[in-house]
Amino acid sequence: MNQDKLAQNVLVLGATSSIAQAVTRIYAARAANLYLVARNPQGLALVAADARVRGAVETHTKALDLSDISVHPELLSDVARVMPELDIALIAYGVLGNQMEGERTYTAAEAVLRINFLSAVSLLTCLANNFERQRKGTIAVISSVAGDRGRKSNYIYGTSKAALTVFLEGLRARLVPCDVHVLTIKPGFVATPMTAHLKQGVLFASPDKIGRGIVSAIDQKKDIVYLPWFWWAIMLAIRMLPERIFKKTNL
Ligand SMILES: NC(=O)c1ccc[n+]([C@@H]2O[C@H](COP(=O)([O-])OP(=O)(O)OC[C@H]3O[C@@H](n4cnc5c(N)ncnc54)[C@H](OP(=O)(O)O)[C@@H]3O)[C@@H](O)[C@H]2O)c1
Repeated sequence: MNQDKLAQNVLVLGATSSIAQAVTRIYAARAANLYLVARNPQGLALVAADARVRGAVETHTKALDLSDISVHPELLSDVARVMPELDIALIAYGVLGNQMEGERTYTAAEAVLRINFLSAVSLLTCLANNFERQRKGTIAVISSVAGDRGRKSNYIYGTSKAALTVFLEGLRARLVPCDVHVLTIKPGFVATPMTAHLKQGVLFASPDKIGRGIVSAIDQKKDIVYLPWFWWAIMLAIRMLPERIFKKTNL
């Protein structure tokens, strides 16, 4: 691989997510410097130890609940202190939430929107300004195919991801003049703890497959990536269904 393409300094927000771990393993093997942030200190320590064994040069860790936006400025100052130039920032944390609870109470719905969307906006606002100043780098964020159309079975989660996708669309256009790359990642079903309660069918992909797809999309400076690719076709068909038909389906 061309040395120019190697990421040196990689920030992973939500480093204990199964998908993030798959991505981290690849960057560790590429001898990257990693700054890993996650809520669970024990899980975080395991991810960092694994990364070191695989070849990561530096591994910095911070255990934080990222839904608490008051900790974001200090976190990102520390990232800037140990990594004055960041090549890649990956936002990978998120919750599926409980749709039924969200239908019953606003607070349950608000918690999903706060974690998946508002806390990401807080981080992205600061990260975008830092990347804008350094005039290079990649911001990669895991959204979801669930944001492509509001389904009755998970429209609260879907709303949080749709909002994130639109935010990233605008951010991408804003950062084009300073050569900062913004990648929106839209996985379909992935076999992770988040979906462990669902019956796994042929549409489920492994975190490793999604991790490889994310790194490849970063390397290729893609704008939006559906993972696996066939979700692009599935969601195109779903988006094209007229509302009068869609509202009566169980999709
Ligand atoms: N799995 C799928 O089918 C699928 C499909 C499309 C998109 N996605 C998205 O992919 C991303 C990664 O999810 P995953 O599938 O890898 O599931 P996962 O393994 O369950 O990971 C979710 C991660 O989010 C972290 N997290 C949740 N709330 C947090 C908070 N307040 N502060 C810090 N970390 C927090 C969790 O940390 P703890 O371990 O501490 O709980 C966990 O590491 C999410 O954004 C998800 O929405 C997943």
